[in-house]
Amino acid sequence: MLYSDELIEEIRNANDIIDIISQYVTLKRSGRNYFGLCPFHKEKSPSLSVSPDKQIFHCFGCGVGGNVIHFISKIEGLNFKDAIEFLAERAGIALPASENARDIYKQELKAKVYEINEIAAKFYHDNLYKPYSKNAQEYVKKRKLDNQTLKAFLIGYASPNYNELYNYLKKNGFTDEQILASSLVNRTENGKFIDRFRNRFMIPIQDIRGKVIAFGGRVLDESKPKYINSPENIVYSKGRNLFGLNIAKKFDTTKLLIVEGYMDAISLYQRGITNVVASLGTAMTEAQGRLLRMYAKQIILGYDSDGAGQAAIVRGMDILTAMGCDVRVLQMEGAKDPDEYVIKYGSGRFLKLMDDAISLVEYKVKILKRNSNINTTSDKIKFLNDMAKILVSVDNKIEQEVYIDRLSSEYKISKEAIYAQINKIRYGNKPAERVLEKQIIKRKTELPEDKEILQSSKTEKVLITLLINEGRSVYEKIKDKIKPEDFKLEQNKIIVKKMYEEFENGKSNIENILNLLEGQEDSINQVTAIMTEDLEINDVNKCIEDILYTYEREKLIKRKNEIIAEMNKLEISTDEARKLEGELSDIIMKLAK
Ligand code: UTP
Ligand code: MN
Repeated sequence: MLYSDELIEEIRNANDIIDIISQYVTLKRSGRNYFGLCPFHKEKSPSLSVSPDKQIFHCFGCGVGGNVIHFISKIEGLNFKDAIEFLAERAGIALPASENARDIYKQELKAKVYEINEIAAKFYHDNLYKPYSKNAQEYVKKRKLDNQTLKAFLIGYASPNYNELYNYLKKNGFTDEQILASSLVNRTENGKFIDRFRNRFMIPIQDIRGKVIAFGGRVLDESKPKYINSPENIVYSKGRNLFGLNIAKKFDTTKLLIVEGYMDAISLYQRGITNVVASLGTAMTEAQGRLLRMYAKQIILGYDSDGAGQAAIVRGMDILTAMGCDVRVLQMEGAKDPDEYVIKYGSGRFLKLMDDAISLVEYKVKILKRNSNINTTSDKIKFLNDMAKILVSVDNKIEQEVYIDRLSSEYKISKEAIYAQINKIRYGNKPAERVLEKQIIKRKTELPEDKEILQSSKTEKVLITLLINEGRSVYEKIKDKIKPEDFKLEQNKIIVKKMYEEFENGKSNIENILNLLEGQEDSINQVTAIMTEDLEINDVNKCIEDILYTYEREKLIKRKNEIIAEMNKLEISTDEARKLEGELSDIIMKLAK
């Protein structure tokens, strides 16, 4: 492991598990723990439990669990080390430089690329004001951008020159390798270096910390391609960033509008609408959703909602809704994009559009309406059925009622007809019987195995709980009588073996069992399950006695059966048989006590 246990603990302590998980999941307190919908499997009722005291999470639905590092590693798709670095950065804890040669190389290259991007952004920006950048200055006027906006976004201009930036970067001491890694310069087949962006209006893309990670370069006329963008590289990942978020986050972001174009975000910002970001030419990703979720309660999608865009909008909305965001869709008419709209009609009217943005359900119904032509009675029945399918997904009954009221009057369909259709979808034709049948099937498939496993492992769970809570004193009492191999469940064997090792090494308490189990995912999940279950143990000594007694008896019974099996194979009254007979009668005596 690269980082010391102490440092990992420091990072873990600096990132409260409730704070962190709340950024991904809506948590509600109930008793000592918090509960929410597990982000690692699909579910409708919360089975994710988070303990602020123990700083662990566990999902009783899918069985995953761990501490804050495991959570981040799972949800961000990072390995353990990267998850630690993610949390260290969040908490502002400095990490020692890596000693691994490849890591050092990558870290240094990354740092250089960030530096190059920053220098390039300033270079392009300064260029914009030079006398030879007339074209670009004309373009600024044409797009009605004011100087403050140019400064805020660090907008710039790349001249038609082939290697202006390359030469500038070389002059600043960067190596070819570093320059190529920034993707700002390409090397041709015959080894020449050529700036990627030439004669383009330059828009730097910054991450939430404000570091320049990429550029979008627009032509100054109607030629194609309209934009060239930096490709993904060691500092840039499209799906993990949003254009303008570093600026928007300086203002109120309770509501955030997400638009398609850089120019839309820039233009709205200039007109006082600062709660806006632009997607980076990708459909909404989950990582972007989480980023939005960190800053906003309500997210308004301001994408082009015709044809091809529809599926992307619905998918984006589904992602965000699943994360617990209130998602809306902007309904805009009379302009091709927000930039044109706000210039044409002003920011007051644009703000009104944002207020009037519609919900996912309304949007789905609207698309449905648009895509169906309702002429005949059977058209109308089909429409009603499709509408009911959309409404069934609304969990909140009050919300559902509001929609039904609204849709009923808008589409001239009686409320009763809508309800009847919803119930038909939900329960089939005979509601009571269906529901009962489902419950019985569920019970049949769930119970027997679960119960067996539960009973056979209950004692093991109690023992593990005791070892964690009471530490060495319990270990001393049981170590000679119960060995890790005596545990039946494989994960428990591993957990207990680790704990025994700790005690053997002189530790008096198990403070960080999760760290000890690093890499053993099943055991981590198991131990968080046990810790979350929080078994109530009143009389520790009595409990240990009972367990030892149970184990002792189990061992005796096992031995008794072995002896009987062995004796069946032997001639009666041989020496060996007599010896076994003696042992057997001892055992029978003991068991009878
Ligand atoms: P738009 O064509 O709506 O761009 O594409 P825009 O930002 O509003 O630009 P103007 O107003 O025409 O100047 C939306 C986004 O799609 C990506 C860019 O991120 C752009 O902002 N795009 C578009 C490209 O990457 N390449 C292209 O050729 C076109
Ligand atoms: Mn535009």
